[in-house]
Amino acid sequence: MKELQERIRQEGLILSDTVLKVDSFLNHQVDTKLALAIGQEFKRIFAGKTITKVLTIEASGIQFAMAAGIALDVPFVYAKKKKAVTLAESVYSAPVHSFTRQETYQVSISQKYLGPNDNVLIVDDFLATGAALVGLVDIVRESGATLAGVGCVIEKSFQEGRGLLEAKGVQVHSLARIKSMSPGHVDFIEDEEP
Ligand code: G4P
Ligand code: NA
Ligand code: NA
Repeated sequence: MKELQERIRQEGLILSDTVLKVDSFLNHQVDTKLALAIGQEFKRIFAGKTITKVLTIEASGIQFAMAAGIALDVPFVYAKKKKAVTLAESVYSAPVHSFTRQETYQVSISQKYLGPNDNVLIVDDFLATGAALVGLVDIVRESGATLAGVGCVIEKSFQEGRGLLEAKGVQVHSLARIKSMSPGHVDFIEDEEP
């Protein structure tokens, strides 16, 4: 997605060879028009899949799942990272190991909102280590729902996330794929239009 690549080049702050900060338009302040365009792009890429539900994980996937849900005219659900007392009974859950925080946490979704009749598109802001997305894929499979694919806004292709998801047979589409980066410079993988 050209517009997204341009914004990353103009406004992205590359803090190291591995961390990209996009707080001015994606992750803290959100450019709402761009977010809605991202939703439309996911709709275009996954056209023909008859998606019934978009799934993400709190917090920073939510605005893109909502945008995709608006574009596809379906609800979106976000997995919770903390077990709420109100989410006590029937949940699907999966452990996610955070390498940056060196801890394992549970992600969970009420069983009410995912089941065998669903065809699910998973959406997230970043594809990096893939740990959280692998957890969501496992939850979708446990629920008996069909998984249409995973759509990510920004993929750091030099990290292992895509490979982990593909090894599970998951179709992955990212709107901007970063081959490499360093302060002041970012190199994208140019996909053929899916
Ligand atoms: P891990 O800690 O769980 O192993 O995952 P990872 O290192 O891949 O990413 C930790 C969090 O940081 C994730 O957000 C992920 O989306 C985000 N992230 C990973 N790489 C980058 C990056 O280069 N830039 C930015 N801005 N974020 C990145 P999260 O734990 O899901 O939290 P949330 O922000 O969605 O609440
Ligand atoms: Na996220
Ligand atoms: Na994040």
